[in-house]
Amino acid sequence: MENNVDLGEVRGSGRDGRVLKEDILHYLSQQTGAMIPPSPPSPSSPPSPSSSPPPASPAPPPAPPSSPPPRPLVRRFTEDRTVIIKGVQKVMSRTMSASLSVPHFGYSDEVNLSRLVSLRRRLQEQAETRGVKLSYMPFFLKALSLALFEFPALNAHLDDRCESLTYKASHDIGVAMDTPNGLLVPVLRGIERMPLLSIAAELSRLQAIGTAGSLSAAQLSGGTFTLSNVGSIGGTYTHPVILTPEVAIGALGKIQVLPRFNERGEVVAAHIMKVSWSADHRVLDGATVSRFSNAWKFLLEEPSNMILHLA
Ligand code: COA
Repeated sequence: MENNVDLGEVRGSGRDGRVLKEDILHYLSQQTGAMIPPSPPSPSSPPSPSSSPPPASPAPPPAPPSSPPPRPLVRRFTEDRTVIIKGVQKVMSRTMSASLSVPHFGYSDEVNLSRLVSLRRRLQEQAETRGVKLSYMPFFLKALSLALFEFPALNAHLDDRCESLTYKASHDIGVAMDTPNGLLVPVLRGIERMPLLSIAAELSRLQAIGTAGSLSAAQLSGGTFTLSNVGSIGGTYTHPVILTPEVAIGALGKIQVLPRFNERGEVVAAHIMKVSWSADHRVLDGATVSRFSNAWKFLLEEPSNMILHLA
């Protein structure tokens, strides 16, 4: 498990073909070219299978066609290494250090996305015919923009000395992206004016530029609120860190199928996602964030409430 070795690929030299630690080390040395000293045979080691073949045992079942590709082998360092913090990491260290001065408070809830899951399934094909990949993010972003209209204090910039709060007219939403160069947060500008498919197209465009490592400083700055969908990688709750001068940020967990009660009190399988908000407690209080979160959740749990704003 440590090295992601598929035991079906390792020739076992133990009793009845059992795979021993030595077999794994030998296998790994063949894969990585690493020199791993052979360990002395244990006194209780049975003869190798070549000298006495094990009784025929059923072949391991072939991997199902949908099984994920094997993960790359983890290379272990044999010595300490010091690397210089630079590039994207350097920017992240500066930005996050500035964020430390903000008194954060967290607020979490869960959202039942069952209706949204089936709606997206129905719309996905149509979106594809228009050349647009429709993930969940455009819905999350559209609902966010609609909720920000109701609670503009969350779409604001606070000055360094906490003397003035500027309510921003445009909803310029930073989206945290996991790219080959590290964490980047490009900004989707003016999403309050954009229909759902335009948001989807703009997200894909920025994702492609981010993956290519070509996002400009302008594309990475000036956000008024940030949303991080770490759930596409995994996890449930997080504690997101505000990107100053913004005053709030949201992070989304993995959509999971979990048992929940329906309105008739029956247990049903529901698509549940946890959301974690962090807000600047100098200018926002828990009640405001809770009401904002309820507004966002209401739109996603019953997406028909968004219908007039989607096209
Ligand atoms: N739970 C479960 N599955 C999810 C999900 C969630 N919360 N969000 C997305 N998915 C699914 C998508 O539907 C898609 O599956 P599909 O192809 O079957 O539809 C798959 O995960 C991959 O989605 P992705 O290509 O990542 O698109 P996206 O629009 O959902 O997300 C980004 C775009 C940029 C947000 C995402 O790629 C990313 O980088 N996330 C990581 C953000 C991060 O690192 N945050 C930490 C900051 S500290």
